[in-house]
Amino acid sequence: MQDRLILGQCLFYEADPRIAGPSGLRHTSRGGVLIRKRHIAAIGEADDLRRTHPQAEITDHGQNLILPGFVDAHAHFPQTAIIASWGKRLIDWLNTYTFPEETRFDDAAYAAEIAARYFDLTLANGTTTVASYATIHPASVDAYFTEAQRRGLRALTGKTCMDRNAPNGLRDTAQSAHDDSKALLAKWHGVERLSYVITPRFSPTSTPDQLDALGTLWAEHPDCLMQTHISEQVDEIAWVRELFPDARDYLDTYEAHGLLGANGLYGHAIHMEPREIDRLSEVGAAVVHCPTSNTFIGSGLFDMGLADRMRVGLATDTGGGSSFSMLRTMAAAYEVAQLRGTALHPAELIWRATAGSAEALRLEGKIGSLKPGIEADLCVLDLSSTPAIAQRAARAEDIWEAVFPTIMMGDDRAVAQVYVAGEPVTL
Ligand code: GUN
Ligand code: ZN
Repeated sequence: MQDRLILGQCLFYEADPRIAGPSGLRHTSRGGVLIRKRHIAAIGEADDLRRTHPQAEITDHGQNLILPGFVDAHAHFPQTAIIASWGKRLIDWLNTYTFPEETRFDDAAYAAEIAARYFDLTLANGTTTVASYATIHPASVDAYFTEAQRRGLRALTGKTCMDRNAPNGLRDTAQSAHDDSKALLAKWHGVERLSYVITPRFSPTSTPDQLDALGTLWAEHPDCLMQTHISEQVDEIAWVRELFPDARDYLDTYEAHGLLGANGLYGHAIHMEPREIDRLSEVGAAVVHCPTSNTFIGSGLFDMGLADRMRVGLATDTGGGSSFSMLRTMAAAYEVAQLRGTALHPAELIWRATAGSAEALRLEGKIGSLKPGIEADLCVLDLSSTPAIAQRAARAEDIWEAVFPTIMMGDDRAVAQVYVAGEPVTL
């Protein structure tokens, strides 16, 4: 396979901008990324790379900005068709819209149709890796992984386990959740670019027996991620307290059943107790910020200060989230932080939508940055994709002023090209 050299503006990942400041992402206005065998082989100035790699096939993206593909650290692909459903808060929203839709995934053909639609939408938005929830049906996991594999994507999912407080047709048992998850893990985990994630939906829909069974499975496969939800809405937390009267707090409902660990991924984490934050930090777990969901369902304002204590991924949480776009998600993260009195720098927003989410997923050595050795999943952004964005970007005095209008106002029209494992994708 011939080397491919793509040219354009680039942001090279040197350090976390939350710690190092904006220069953690080093900008070059005429840079290049050399792709060899599906990986980034070299980065640098365009002229230098042209000289040192004269045989490479060149794709020149001009003024467009080359970034790693976006990484969405928490989503629900089965909710694709019910995104933007009106008027409910979390528990009512689950019962009214989500559970009836998820029931349909016992039909393998429907699951395959939605998985294909979902990856069309996420790729069109520049997202190259998603950690998704599936439904309780093993066929939904097969549909997602089959479609991801067909497209050569790095992708993560797991069977969503629920054995109570869910409708008929959407409940498993402690035993079947364990056995089905184990079989799916054996079938898919580590196959090509796919990773299985052990997935109890959240404490209210699992009995203590089911949480125990999944804790046991995780202990047998500690290299797997475990994903779930925590402290998203105040009413939900009150319900957890009723269901688990002996638990110290929400996190304890997981901790007591072997579901707290360094490879744990806890979505939302908005209304957290000091003990919960201390424990997550102590064990080295990650939380995931889902800002368009947290405003859309009315959940609350995530505290980005948690990133000083633990890894924090960024995510759409579709279809509780109202967008498939990580640009829109960065904009919402900016707005939520503003409401809490902090302005997140564009460098931090971009880092979190790529390297930050990759870190949350323990994939920082594989995806999420422009560095030699990283898999060549790339997103190329047009920073003047609409008249409104173009006229603002025209006034920009540096790269951050040039990119911020696209973060705040951009959508799939800003995604000029996506590469998956070094190959251009037809959008
Ligand atoms: N908590 C439990 N399940 C879900 C879900 O599907 N979406 C969101 N936003 N929160 C949840
Ligand atoms: Zn979720």
